[in-house]
Amino acid sequence: MIVTTTVQEVRAARRDDPWLTWGLIPTMGTLHEGHLSLVRRARAENDRVGVSIFVNPIQFNRRDDLDAYPRQLERDCELLRTEGVDLVWAPPEDEVYPPGYQTYVDLEQITLPLEGASRPGHFRGVATVVAKLFNVFEPTRAYFGQKDAQQAAVLRQMVRDLAFNLEMVICPIVREPDGLAMSSRNLRLKSDERQAALVLHRALKAAESEWQQGRREAGHLRTTMQQVIEAEPLARLDYVSAADPISLQELAGNAEHVLLSMAVFIGAVRLIDNFVLGGQTE
Ligand code: PAJ
Repeated sequence: MIVTTTVQEVRAARRDDPWLTWGLIPTMGTLHEGHLSLVRRARAENDRVGVSIFVNPIQFNRRDDLDAYPRQLERDCELLRTEGVDLVWAPPEDEVYPPGYQTYVDLEQITLPLEGASRPGHFRGVATVVAKLFNVFEPTRAYFGQKDAQQAAVLRQMVRDLAFNLEMVICPIVREPDGLAMSSRNLRLKSDERQAALVLHRALKAAESEWQQGRREAGHLRTTMQQVIEAEPLARLDYVSAADPISLQELAGNAEHVLLSMAVFIGAVRLIDNFVLGGQTE
């Protein structure tokens, strides 16, 4: 496994085998089973697998969140070696954003609601770094998690709009046995908060159960989730949503295909989770 910090070495590895297929998994490190599920899928579908590890400062709208983001590069590399990864790119900040850097990728409507509304500038940072990763790796396929549902939708849109020559693969959410969606941020939860964090999954389950019993009015699904969250003393609701899974616009009336999503603060840690009901329509 090659571990490098430079664009030049990634390009060199890619150009050694221009005819082979490459799968790319962009990450911010502190890897868990969620990330590794993407790596395994990529390993099964491509000749070569590349992983990037970069805590992208421009996608953080809060300095304290960036500073608190966990980092464990050596452990990450050991895990990736065990998974049979070929190439890891772990660049310093000025390799991605050299002095004088001034190019950004901005998407319009799809970045306005949900995470985009709560975290101004977040998707500009995500789209910019992922566009750069695509140009550096030139992957055949790129792997993302449904955990970050809006991120996946935004990046699909970017690939379509800018005609990136690759296939987007979106993988299911990996959860802890008790239902908590895996996230690098879970490490920051204290033990009572870890228990309280189950409220996100519980709220999604409650709305799913209503939906399965035929109570599919979008407003009712949002209220159901909100009431479960508000009953948990350690939780503070940021948003709940019942939206169209493709456009991410809030639904009114009956929700046959719906992305249920939410962001909730548990203490100082902001967690997100989602379910898609009725199948993805794409
Ligand atoms: P990061 O949070 O490290 O996540 C990297 C990838 O792993 C993302 O595609 C994310 O959706 C996926 N992932 C995280 N937790 C998951 C889980 N429990 N189940 C399935 N997949 C999961 O997302 C980012 O980094 C960054 O925004 C990035 C795309 C790397 C751009 O900086």
